[in-house]
Amino acid sequence: AYPNLAPRPPMGWNNWSYYMCDINEKTVLDNARALVRTGLAGKGYRTVTIDDCWMGRARGSRGELVADPVKFPHGMAYLGRQLHRLGLKFGIYEDVGTLTCEKFPGSLGHFQEDAAQFAEWKVDYVKADGCNVPVAPGHTKEETYRDLYGQMSRALRDTGRPITFSVSAPAYFQFDGDSVWHQVIGWSAEVGNLWRGGRDVALQQSTPAAKWSSIVYNFRYNAKLSGLQKPGRWNDPDFLLAGDTGLTREEIRSQMSLWAMMAAPLISSTDVTGLSGQARSVLGNKNVIAVDQDALGVQGHLVQQDDGSAVLAKPLRNGDTAIALFNSGATARTLSVTAAAAGLPQAGSYRLHELVTGRRTRSGGDIVARDVPPHSTVLYRVTPG
Ligand code: DGJ
Repeated sequence: AYPNLAPRPPMGWNNWSYYMCDINEKTVLDNARALVRTGLAGKGYRTVTIDDCWMGRARGSRGELVADPVKFPHGMAYLGRQLHRLGLKFGIYEDVGTLTCEKFPGSLGHFQEDAAQFAEWKVDYVKADGCNVPVAPGHTKEETYRDLYGQMSRALRDTGRPITFSVSAPAYFQFDGDSVWHQVIGWSAEVGNLWRGGRDVALQQSTPAAKWSSIVYNFRYNAKLSGLQKPGRWNDPDFLLAGDTGLTREEIRSQMSLWAMMAAPLISSTDVTGLSGQARSVLGNKNVIAVDQDALGVQGHLVQQDDGSAVLAKPLRNGDTAIALFNSGATARTLSVTAAAAGLPQAGSYRLHELVTGRRTRSGGDIVARDVPPHSTVLYRVTPG
């Protein structure tokens, strides 16, 4: 298997959902400096990944990948050095097909050279997309993807540089039926450290309603996958949208809490240089981050759900259990779960720490959250006794 380079869910920033192809050296470094200045880097958001569109339209004369000379005038090695100087890690995007989704050169046929190139640039993290994959004659789509991701994984490993590997394959199989798609997640967890599923979260130009429904969609999709994750091998339901996105405070808090419950990678995609205090405090909530990064490395599982709500429970290293009560509907609701159903050890009473508001309360065997507002999540850290 690929080396376990991500004992905790990766954290960082990626330009895609906010900037799409409108990126350049200044934008990336301004955001990188803002991660440091806002304290978010210190809280773990350290891997800065440049997504699609960083390349020139064609490879260089020796077949090598080249950065777009206008967007990245000093090249990628320079960008990596600047990120490393800031104490950050350098992530880059490629694709296992002939072309990236935005039609820049893909890695197919060049896996070793490209991996060597990334290692030379001191890249720490590679996201490998799965657009424009020609199905090999006599092979199925699944076999073809498995082969190509396997090739890229071996090439990265053989560089000897520790490069966290993010695999997009499952996202290309989500409508191909459960069994093939489970198979793809199975080998993604062998060849990489994290893998994308669900749809892309909605882009910056989308309406707040579309952004919210993409969060709920990816939550519902990813929450079912807890059995397929293991510590160090993470399901990735895509970016955190907190920031200048038109989402409400309740909505960005919900996404952060639910992603933490699912031990999801915490990858912000927003303009960090203009981050509101509200978004910063949601992304930077240490107690919520601690649930995500907990050393047990378990993805919380669904205890119950209906059309308008879901309850998740996640066991934590110190014996506590995190419980999330999510109201996805349009009206306030009282949500509850019994301690027994949530898998808590039996006790006369339980101490509840609400991690978003900081409120501490006690309860008996019923964990109840009253008047949970629409689109809101109550996140408890529960200690028996
Ligand atoms: C599809 C991926 O899912 C997105 O995250 C992004 O990388 C785009 N491709 C870029 O083309």
